[in-house]
Amino acid sequence: MIESDELVLRNFKPGDAGLFANYRNDPQVARFQTWKTDIDLKYALRFIKQMNEIPLFEYDKGEWSQIAIALKESDRLIGDIGIQIQDPAFGNIEFGITLSRKFQQRGYAFKSITLLFDYLFAKNTHRIYAVTDYQNTSSIKLLKKLGMREEGYYIESYYDQRTKRWRDEMRFALLNREWKNRESG
Ligand SMILES: CC(C)(COP(=O)(O)OP(=O)(O)OC[C@H]1O[C@@H](n2cnc3c(N)ncnc32)[C@H](O)[C@@H]1OP(=O)(O)O)[C@@H](O)C(=O)NCCC(=O)NCCS
Repeated sequence: MIESDELVLRNFKPGDAGLFANYRNDPQVARFQTWKTDIDLKYALRFIKQMNEIPLFEYDKGEWSQIAIALKESDRLIGDIGIQIQDPAFGNIEFGITLSRKFQQRGYAFKSITLLFDYLFAKNTHRIYAVTDYQNTSSIKLLKKLGMREEGYYIESYYDQRTKRWRDEMRFALLNREWKNRESG
Protein backbone atom coordinates (compact mmCIF):
# COMPACT_ATOMS: atom_id res chain seq x y z
CA MET A 1 0.00 0.00 0.00
CA ILE A 2 1.24 3.48 -0.91
CA GLU A 3 -0.41 6.54 0.56
CA SER A 4 -0.39 10.30 0.84
CA ASP A 5 -2.55 12.59 3.01
CA GLU A 6 -5.33 12.33 0.43
CA LEU A 7 -4.95 9.11 -1.55
CA VAL A 8 -4.22 5.42 -1.13
CA LEU A 9 -2.90 3.06 -3.82
CA ARG A 10 -3.88 -0.43 -2.69
CA ASN A 11 -5.15 -3.84 -3.72
CA PHE A 12 -8.73 -4.04 -4.93
CA LYS A 13 -11.33 -5.22 -2.40
CA PRO A 14 -14.59 -7.10 -3.16
CA GLY A 15 -16.47 -4.02 -1.91
CA ASP A 16 -14.99 -1.99 -4.82
CA ALA A 17 -16.74 -4.14 -7.45
CA GLY A 18 -19.85 -1.98 -7.94
CA LEU A 19 -17.93 1.30 -8.34
CA PHE A 20 -15.34 -0.40 -10.57
CA ALA A 21 -18.06 -1.73 -12.90
CA ASN A 22 -19.76 1.69 -12.96
CA TYR A 23 -16.80 3.69 -14.18
CA ARG A 24 -15.53 0.98 -16.52
CA ASN A 25 -18.96 0.89 -18.17
CA ASP A 26 -19.08 4.69 -18.57
CA PRO A 27 -18.73 5.28 -22.35
CA GLN A 28 -16.91 8.58 -21.78
CA VAL A 29 -14.33 6.94 -19.51
CA ALA A 30 -13.93 4.04 -21.96
CA ARG A 31 -13.80 6.23 -25.07
CA PHE A 32 -10.14 5.53 -25.82
CA GLN A 33 -9.92 2.12 -24.16
CA THR A 34 -10.34 -1.36 -25.55
CA TRP A 35 -12.08 -2.94 -22.57
CA LYS A 36 -15.69 -4.21 -22.54
CA THR A 37 -18.32 -1.68 -21.38
CA ASP A 38 -20.96 -4.17 -20.34
CA ILE A 39 -19.38 -5.71 -17.26
CA ASP A 40 -21.60 -6.80 -14.38
CA LEU A 41 -20.92 -7.25 -10.68
CA LYS A 42 -20.01 -10.92 -11.15
CA TYR A 43 -17.36 -10.06 -13.77
CA ALA A 44 -16.00 -7.24 -11.58
CA LEU A 45 -15.73 -9.57 -8.56
CA ARG A 46 -13.94 -12.21 -10.64
CA PHE A 47 -11.55 -9.57 -11.97
CA ILE A 48 -10.80 -8.35 -8.42
CA LYS A 49 -10.23 -11.92 -7.21
CA GLN A 50 -7.78 -12.54 -10.06
CA MET A 51 -5.91 -9.30 -9.37
CA ASN A 52 -5.57 -10.13 -5.69
CA GLU A 53 -3.98 -13.48 -6.40
CA ILE A 54 -0.84 -11.50 -7.22
CA PRO A 55 0.53 -9.32 -4.39
CA LEU A 56 0.95 -5.68 -5.43
CA PHE A 57 4.15 -5.13 -7.41
CA GLU A 58 5.13 -8.83 -7.21
CA TYR A 59 4.25 -10.32 -10.54
CA ASP A 60 6.06 -11.67 -13.51
CA LYS A 61 7.09 -10.04 -16.73
CA GLY A 62 4.22 -9.45 -19.11
CA GLU A 63 1.40 -9.58 -16.56
CA TRP A 64 -0.83 -6.57 -16.06
CA SER A 65 -1.58 -5.70 -12.46
CA GLN A 66 -4.40 -3.40 -11.47
CA ILE A 67 -3.91 -1.09 -8.50
CA ALA A 68 -6.92 0.57 -6.87
CA ILE A 69 -6.88 4.33 -6.23
CA ALA A 70 -8.98 5.25 -3.18
CA LEU A 71 -9.61 8.38 -1.14
CA LYS A 72 -7.69 8.09 2.12
CA GLU A 73 -10.44 9.39 4.38
CA SER A 74 -13.31 7.19 3.19
CA ASP A 75 -11.41 4.41 1.37
CA ARG A 76 -13.79 5.04 -1.56
CA LEU A 77 -12.55 3.69 -4.91
CA ILE A 78 -12.06 6.51 -7.44
CA GLY A 79 -10.10 4.74 -10.19
CA ASP A 80 -7.26 2.41 -11.00
CA ILE A 81 -3.77 2.19 -12.38
CA GLY A 82 -2.66 -0.73 -14.55
CA ILE A 83 1.03 -1.54 -14.64
CA GLN A 84 2.91 -4.07 -16.69
CA ILE A 85 6.53 -5.01 -16.17
CA GLN A 86 8.12 -5.29 -19.60
CA ASP A 87 11.52 -6.39 -18.42
CA PRO A 88 12.14 -6.92 -14.70
CA ALA A 89 15.91 -7.00 -15.18
CA PHE A 90 15.95 -3.45 -16.52
CA GLY A 91 12.86 -2.21 -14.76
CA ASN A 92 10.95 -1.09 -17.82
CA ILE A 93 7.31 -0.57 -16.85
CA GLU A 94 4.20 0.48 -18.77
CA PHE A 95 1.27 2.08 -16.98
CA GLY A 96 -2.24 3.32 -17.69
CA ILE A 97 -4.63 5.20 -15.43
CA THR A 98 -8.41 5.50 -15.25
CA LEU A 99 -10.50 7.71 -13.01
CA SER A 100 -14.22 7.65 -12.45
CA ARG A 101 -15.63 10.73 -14.24
CA LYS A 102 -16.79 12.17 -10.92
CA PHE A 103 -13.17 12.35 -9.75
CA GLN A 104 -11.57 13.71 -12.91
CA GLN A 105 -10.32 17.30 -13.22
CA ARG A 106 -9.41 17.49 -9.56
CA GLY A 107 -5.72 16.67 -9.81
CA TYR A 108 -6.15 13.10 -8.48
CA ALA A 109 -4.62 11.48 -11.55
CA PHE A 110 -1.50 13.63 -11.30
CA LYS A 111 -1.21 12.98 -7.57
CA SER A 112 -1.74 9.20 -7.92
CA ILE A 113 0.87 8.83 -10.63
CA THR A 114 3.32 11.02 -8.72
CA LEU A 115 2.95 8.61 -5.77
CA LEU A 116 3.44 5.62 -8.06
CA PHE A 117 6.52 7.11 -9.75
CA ASP A 118 8.09 8.03 -6.39
CA TYR A 119 7.57 4.43 -5.28
CA LEU A 120 8.75 2.69 -8.46
CA PHE A 121 11.75 4.94 -9.08
CA ALA A 122 12.83 4.57 -5.43
CA LYS A 123 12.83 0.81 -6.12
CA ASN A 124 15.29 1.42 -8.95
CA THR A 125 12.88 1.08 -11.83
CA HIS A 126 14.83 2.32 -14.83
CA ARG A 127 12.09 3.54 -17.16
CA ILE A 128 8.34 4.07 -17.12
CA TYR A 129 6.22 4.67 -20.21
CA ALA A 130 2.63 5.08 -21.32
CA VAL A 131 0.84 4.78 -24.64
CA THR A 132 -2.23 6.82 -25.40
CA ASP A 133 -4.64 7.53 -28.25
CA TYR A 134 -3.55 10.66 -30.13
CA GLN A 135 -6.89 12.34 -29.40
CA ASN A 136 -6.96 11.53 -25.69
CA THR A 137 -6.21 15.12 -24.67
CA SER A 138 -6.68 14.65 -20.90
CA SER A 139 -4.26 11.76 -20.92
CA ILE A 140 -1.67 13.60 -23.06
CA LYS A 141 -1.93 16.66 -20.81
CA LEU A 142 -1.40 14.48 -17.73
CA LEU A 143 1.63 12.69 -19.18
CA LYS A 144 3.24 15.99 -20.20
CA LYS A 145 2.51 17.51 -16.79
CA LEU A 146 4.32 14.56 -15.22
CA GLY A 147 7.38 15.58 -17.24
CA MET A 148 7.22 12.59 -19.58
CA ARG A 149 8.93 12.91 -22.95
CA GLU A 150 6.99 12.31 -26.15
CA GLU A 151 8.95 9.42 -27.64
CA GLY A 152 7.02 8.41 -30.64
CA TYR A 153 3.93 8.63 -32.78
CA TYR A 154 2.49 5.34 -34.01
CA ILE A 155 0.40 5.34 -37.16
CA GLU A 156 -2.75 3.19 -37.00
CA SER A 157 -1.26 1.05 -34.25
CA TYR A 158 -4.42 -0.27 -32.62
CA TYR A 159 -7.82 -1.32 -33.82
CA ASP A 160 -10.83 0.32 -32.17
CA GLN A 161 -13.60 -2.28 -32.09
CA ARG A 162 -16.27 0.32 -31.42
CA THR A 163 -15.61 2.57 -34.40
CA LYS A 164 -14.12 -0.26 -36.47
CA ARG A 165 -11.13 1.90 -37.34
CA TRP A 166 -7.38 1.76 -36.89
CA ARG A 167 -6.17 4.59 -34.68
CA ASP A 168 -2.89 6.39 -34.00
CA GLU A 169 -1.13 6.34 -30.64
CA MET A 170 1.52 8.40 -28.89
CA ARG A 171 4.14 7.04 -26.51
CA PHE A 172 5.55 8.98 -23.57
CA ALA A 173 8.41 7.86 -21.33
CA LEU A 174 10.47 8.91 -18.35
CA LEU A 175 13.78 7.64 -16.98
CA ASN A 176 14.63 7.28 -13.32
CA ARG A 177 17.25 10.05 -13.52
CA GLU A 178 14.86 12.39 -15.31
CA TRP A 179 12.30 11.98 -12.50
CA LYS A 180 14.95 12.56 -9.84
CA ASN A 181 16.39 15.59 -11.68
CA ARG A 182 12.91 16.99 -12.05
CA GLU A 183 12.32 16.62 -8.31
CA SER A 184 15.58 18.25 -7.35
CA GLY A 185 15.08 20.96 -10.00
C1 LIG B 1 -6.50 10.33 -18.21
C2 LIG B 1 -7.22 10.77 -16.93
C3 LIG B 1 -6.85 9.81 -15.80
C4 LIG B 1 -6.75 12.20 -16.58
O1 LIG B 1 -7.45 12.64 -15.43
P1 LIG B 1 -7.56 14.19 -15.04
O2 LIG B 1 -8.50 14.29 -13.91
O3 LIG B 1 -7.84 14.98 -16.28
O4 LIG B 1 -6.06 14.54 -14.62
P2 LIG B 1 -5.50 15.37 -13.35
O5 LIG B 1 -5.66 14.64 -12.10
O6 LIG B 1 -4.09 15.72 -13.70
O7 LIG B 1 -6.38 16.65 -13.28
C5 LIG B 1 -6.17 17.66 -14.21
C6 LIG B 1 -7.00 18.88 -13.94
O8 LIG B 1 -7.49 18.98 -12.62
C7 LIG B 1 -7.51 20.37 -12.26
N1 LIG B 1 -7.44 20.49 -10.81
C8 LIG B 1 -8.48 20.78 -10.02
N2 LIG B 1 -8.11 20.76 -8.74
C9 LIG B 1 -6.81 20.44 -8.69
C10 LIG B 1 -5.87 20.26 -7.65
N3 LIG B 1 -6.21 20.40 -6.38
N4 LIG B 1 -4.60 19.91 -7.97
C11 LIG B 1 -4.24 19.75 -9.25
N5 LIG B 1 -5.10 19.90 -10.30
C12 LIG B 1 -6.38 20.24 -10.03
C13 LIG B 1 -6.32 20.98 -12.96
O9 LIG B 1 -6.55 22.31 -13.27
C14 LIG B 1 -6.16 20.10 -14.18
O10 LIG B 1 -6.74 20.71 -15.31
P3 LIG B 1 -5.79 21.29 -16.46
O11 LIG B 1 -4.88 20.15 -16.86
O12 LIG B 1 -6.75 21.68 -17.54
O13 LIG B 1 -5.03 22.40 -15.83
C15 LIG B 1 -8.76 10.79 -17.14
O14 LIG B 1 -9.08 11.67 -18.18
C16 LIG B 1 -9.35 9.42 -17.41
O15 LIG B 1 -9.57 8.62 -16.50
N6 LIG B 1 -9.66 9.13 -18.70
C17 LIG B 1 -10.30 7.88 -19.09
C18 LIG B 1 -9.32 6.72 -19.11
C19 LIG B 1 -8.18 6.99 -20.06
O16 LIG B 1 -8.39 7.28 -21.23
N7 LIG B 1 -6.97 6.87 -19.54
C20 LIG B 1 -5.74 7.09 -20.28
C21 LIG B 1 -4.93 5.86 -20.29
S1 LIG B 1 -3.24 6.19 -20.71
